[in-house]
Amino acid sequence: MAERTSGTAVCPGSYDPVTLGHIDIITRASQVFDRVVVGVVNQPVRKQKTVFTAEQRVAFITAEVAPLGNVEVQAFDNLLVEFARENGAKAIVKGLRAISDFEYEFEMNQLNRKMAPDIESMYLMAAPQYSFLSSSGVKELAMFGGDLTGLVPAPVASQLKEALER
Ligand code: PNS
Repeated sequence: MAERTSGTAVCPGSYDPVTLGHIDIITRASQVFDRVVVGVVNQPVRKQKTVFTAEQRVAFITAEVAPLGNVEVQAFDNLLVEFARENGAKAIVKGLRAISDFEYEFEMNQLNRKMAPDIESMYLMAAPQYSFLSSSGVKELAMFGGDLTGLVPAPVASQLKEALER
Protein backbone atom coordinates (compact mmCIF):
# COMPACT_ATOMS: atom_id res chain seq x y z
CA MET A 1 0.00 0.00 0.00
CA ALA A 2 1.18 3.58 -0.67
CA GLU A 3 2.58 5.62 2.22
CA ARG A 4 0.12 7.60 4.33
CA THR A 5 0.25 11.39 4.50
CA SER A 6 1.68 12.33 7.88
CA GLY A 7 -0.59 13.98 10.38
CA THR A 8 -3.95 13.74 12.02
CA ALA A 9 -7.41 14.18 10.52
CA VAL A 10 -10.70 14.55 12.33
CA CYS A 11 -13.86 12.88 10.98
CA PRO A 12 -16.74 14.68 12.73
CA GLY A 13 -20.43 13.92 12.81
CA SER A 14 -23.51 13.21 14.85
CA TYR A 15 -23.36 9.51 13.99
CA ASP A 16 -26.87 8.83 15.29
CA PRO A 17 -26.35 6.08 14.36
CA VAL A 18 -23.13 5.35 12.51
CA THR A 19 -23.80 3.81 9.08
CA LEU A 20 -21.61 1.67 6.85
CA GLY A 21 -21.23 4.80 4.71
CA HIS A 22 -19.57 6.59 7.65
CA ILE A 23 -17.35 3.57 8.32
CA ASP A 24 -16.30 3.59 4.65
CA ILE A 25 -15.26 7.27 4.86
CA ILE A 26 -13.39 6.74 8.17
CA THR A 27 -11.61 3.69 6.73
CA ARG A 28 -10.55 5.56 3.61
CA ALA A 29 -9.33 8.53 5.70
CA SER A 30 -7.33 6.11 7.87
CA GLN A 31 -5.50 4.94 4.74
CA VAL A 32 -4.40 8.49 3.92
CA PHE A 33 -3.60 9.95 7.35
CA ASP A 34 -1.35 8.60 10.10
CA ARG A 35 -4.03 9.09 12.71
CA VAL A 36 -7.77 9.66 12.48
CA VAL A 37 -9.87 10.97 15.35
CA VAL A 38 -13.59 10.40 14.93
CA GLY A 39 -15.41 13.25 16.68
CA VAL A 40 -18.91 12.43 17.89
CA VAL A 41 -21.02 15.53 18.46
CA ASN A 42 -22.29 15.49 22.02
CA GLN A 43 -24.88 18.21 21.42
CA PRO A 44 -28.04 18.44 19.38
CA VAL A 45 -26.68 20.53 16.51
CA ARG A 46 -29.75 21.73 14.60
CA LYS A 47 -31.24 18.35 15.27
CA GLN A 48 -33.78 16.71 17.50
CA LYS A 49 -32.77 14.66 20.50
CA THR A 50 -30.54 11.76 19.50
CA VAL A 51 -31.71 8.14 19.70
CA PHE A 52 -28.39 7.04 21.20
CA THR A 53 -26.33 8.77 23.87
CA ALA A 54 -22.88 10.06 22.95
CA GLU A 55 -21.36 7.14 24.91
CA GLN A 56 -23.38 4.61 22.90
CA ARG A 57 -22.49 6.29 19.59
CA VAL A 58 -18.80 6.32 20.54
CA ALA A 59 -18.98 2.63 21.52
CA PHE A 60 -20.60 1.55 18.21
CA ILE A 61 -17.91 3.30 16.19
CA THR A 62 -15.05 2.15 18.43
CA ALA A 63 -16.03 -1.47 17.87
CA GLU A 64 -16.07 -1.05 14.08
CA VAL A 65 -12.78 0.84 13.72
CA ALA A 66 -10.71 -1.26 16.15
CA PRO A 67 -9.16 -3.38 13.34
CA LEU A 68 -7.89 -0.26 11.55
CA GLY A 69 -5.33 0.44 14.30
CA ASN A 70 -4.89 4.19 13.74
CA VAL A 71 -8.39 5.45 14.53
CA GLU A 72 -9.67 6.71 17.87
CA VAL A 73 -13.13 7.91 18.79
CA GLN A 74 -14.02 10.78 21.12
CA ALA A 75 -17.14 12.74 21.96
CA PHE A 76 -16.89 16.53 21.76
CA ASP A 77 -19.11 19.45 22.69
CA ASN A 78 -17.04 22.46 21.68
CA LEU A 79 -16.46 24.00 18.26
CA LEU A 80 -15.30 21.48 15.69
CA VAL A 81 -12.22 23.55 14.85
CA GLU A 82 -11.30 23.72 18.56
CA PHE A 83 -11.69 19.96 18.82
CA ALA A 84 -9.48 19.57 15.74
CA ARG A 85 -6.84 21.85 17.30
CA GLU A 86 -6.91 19.97 20.60
CA ASN A 87 -6.11 16.85 18.64
CA GLY A 88 -3.37 18.46 16.55
CA ALA A 89 -5.36 17.79 13.37
CA LYS A 90 -4.49 19.61 10.18
CA ALA A 91 -7.58 18.40 8.33
CA ILE A 92 -11.29 17.81 8.78
CA VAL A 93 -12.47 14.96 6.58
CA LYS A 94 -16.12 14.48 5.68
CA GLY A 95 -18.06 12.39 3.21
CA LEU A 96 -20.13 13.93 0.43
CA ARG A 97 -23.11 12.06 -0.93
CA ALA A 98 -25.60 13.29 -3.49
CA ILE A 99 -25.86 16.97 -4.41
CA SER A 100 -28.08 17.68 -1.41
CA ASP A 101 -25.08 17.53 0.97
CA PHE A 102 -23.26 20.24 -0.90
CA GLU A 103 -25.12 23.32 0.30
CA TYR A 104 -24.87 22.44 4.01
CA GLU A 105 -21.23 21.40 3.74
CA PHE A 106 -20.38 24.53 1.76
CA GLU A 107 -21.78 26.68 4.55
CA MET A 108 -19.99 24.69 7.29
CA ASN A 109 -16.80 24.90 5.27
CA GLN A 110 -16.95 28.68 5.10
CA LEU A 111 -17.66 29.01 8.83
CA ASN A 112 -14.91 26.62 9.84
CA ARG A 113 -12.44 28.20 7.41
CA LYS A 114 -13.17 31.67 8.82
CA MET A 115 -12.43 30.49 12.36
CA ALA A 116 -9.45 28.32 11.47
CA PRO A 117 -7.95 28.98 8.03
CA ASP A 118 -5.05 26.67 8.90
CA ILE A 119 -7.29 23.59 9.18
CA GLU A 120 -8.27 22.30 5.77
CA SER A 121 -11.65 20.64 5.19
CA MET A 122 -11.46 17.75 2.76
CA TYR A 123 -14.30 15.77 1.22
CA LEU A 124 -14.35 12.16 0.16
CA MET A 125 -17.04 11.20 -2.34
CA ALA A 126 -19.36 8.54 -1.00
CA ALA A 127 -18.98 5.10 -2.55
CA PRO A 128 -21.87 4.45 -4.98
CA GLN A 129 -23.50 1.85 -2.73
CA TYR A 130 -23.68 4.42 0.11
CA SER A 131 -24.64 7.49 -1.89
CA PHE A 132 -28.19 7.58 -0.61
CA LEU A 133 -27.56 6.20 2.86
CA SER A 134 -28.21 8.50 5.82
CA SER A 135 -28.70 8.11 9.58
CA SER A 136 -32.16 9.65 9.30
CA GLY A 137 -33.15 7.27 6.49
CA VAL A 138 -31.96 4.33 8.55
CA LYS A 139 -34.00 5.48 11.57
CA GLU A 140 -37.11 5.76 9.44
CA LEU A 141 -36.60 2.25 8.06
CA ALA A 142 -36.03 0.90 11.56
CA MET A 143 -39.18 2.54 12.86
CA PHE A 144 -41.25 0.69 10.29
CA GLY A 145 -39.48 -2.64 10.62
CA GLY A 146 -37.31 -2.36 7.49
CA ASP A 147 -34.27 -4.58 6.95
CA LEU A 148 -31.07 -2.72 7.93
CA THR A 149 -28.67 -5.36 6.61
CA GLY A 150 -25.85 -3.76 4.62
CA LEU A 151 -26.72 -0.28 5.90
CA VAL A 152 -25.43 -0.24 9.48
CA PRO A 153 -23.21 -2.51 11.60
CA ALA A 154 -25.15 -5.50 13.00
CA PRO A 155 -25.06 -4.34 16.66
CA VAL A 156 -26.45 -0.95 15.58
CA ALA A 157 -29.28 -2.64 13.66
CA SER A 158 -30.44 -4.68 16.64
CA GLN A 159 -30.15 -1.87 19.19
CA LEU A 160 -31.82 0.62 16.86
CA LYS A 161 -34.81 -1.66 16.39
CA GLU A 162 -35.03 -2.12 20.14
CA ALA A 163 -34.78 1.64 20.80
CA LEU A 164 -37.32 2.67 18.20
CA GLU A 165 -39.83 -0.06 18.95
CA ARG A 166 -40.04 1.13 22.55
O1 PNS B 1 -24.03 16.59 9.78
P1 PNS B 1 -23.64 16.40 11.20
O2 PNS B 1 -23.29 14.98 11.46
O3 PNS B 1 -24.69 16.87 12.17
O4 PNS B 1 -22.32 17.33 11.39
C1 PNS B 1 -21.85 17.80 12.61
C2 PNS B 1 -20.67 18.76 12.39
C3 PNS B 1 -20.07 19.11 13.73
C4 PNS B 1 -19.65 18.05 11.55
C5 PNS B 1 -21.17 20.02 11.65
O5 PNS B 1 -22.27 20.53 12.30
C6 PNS B 1 -20.10 21.11 11.53
O6 PNS B 1 -19.22 21.05 10.68
N1 PNS B 1 -20.21 22.14 12.41
C7 PNS B 1 -19.31 23.28 12.46
C8 PNS B 1 -19.75 24.22 13.56
C9 PNS B 1 -19.42 23.65 14.96
O7 PNS B 1 -18.28 23.56 15.34
N2 PNS B 1 -20.47 23.25 15.69
C10 PNS B 1 -20.34 22.70 17.05
C11 PNS B 1 -20.38 21.18 17.07
S1 PNS B 1 -20.36 20.53 18.76
